[in-house]
Amino acid sequence: MATFRLEVTVRDLRRDDLPGCGWAGGPGHLGFVTVALRRAELGEVEYLAVCPPTDLPLAIGGVDYTRRPGAGTLWQLAVHPAVRSCGLGTLLIGAAERRIAERGHDRAELSVAEDNPRARALYERLGYLAYGREPEEWNVVTPDGTVTRHRATCVLMRKPLH
Ligand SMILES: CC(C)(COP(=O)(O)OP(=O)(O)OC[C@H]1O[C@@H](n2cnc3c(N)ncnc32)[C@H](O)[C@@H]1OP(=O)(O)O)[C@@H](O)C(=O)NCCC(=O)NCCS
Repeated sequence: MATFRLEVTVRDLRRDDLPGCGWAGGPGHLGFVTVALRRAELGEVEYLAVCPPTDLPLAIGGVDYTRRPGAGTLWQLAVHPAVRSCGLGTLLIGAAERRIAERGHDRAELSVAEDNPRARALYERLGYLAYGREPEEWNVVTPDGTVTRHRATCVLMRKPLH
């Protein structure tokens, strides 16, 4: 076993990053990220990327400022599968929380599907508390290009930012 250290920076995700972000979701996911980047231009959301010196994103995720009044809502968090459980998700969430605080909000929110206990465990470790449950629906694009609605019960979580 060898140890390898990598310096990373956090910056805004750009459209020209998208061709290199296919790992972030299933087919069609980048279409949803493209929509989010358009909303970023309007100031409704921020979309972050964690990059090594190559400047290619290894982790990406958004903050939506319109979903819950007075809070930034983290969503579409994804870390490259090859480097999960290495701390990049924690780093990305910390950077997103700082962005939320810089916008003058004192609360971060997120929702996590009930069938994603590992992600929920991470959020709890980072100080997020469950305060409710909500059925959610989102589009999923299958490999043949068909768009289907995915339904799941999600746990709503929040964290005060001081
Ligand atoms: C959830 C996710 C963003 C966390 O990023 P990460 O860089 O792996 O997180 P960290 O290294 O900071 O922390 C690791 C913890 O993340 C959680 N985790 C959730 N899903 C995970 C996965 N597929 N692989 C590894 N860790 C995962 C675990 O609690 C893990 O702790 P453990 O290794 O002790 O089990 C990332 O794993 C991921 O992209 N998962 C798939 C997509 C997803 O589930 N997104 C969240 C939707 S709400």
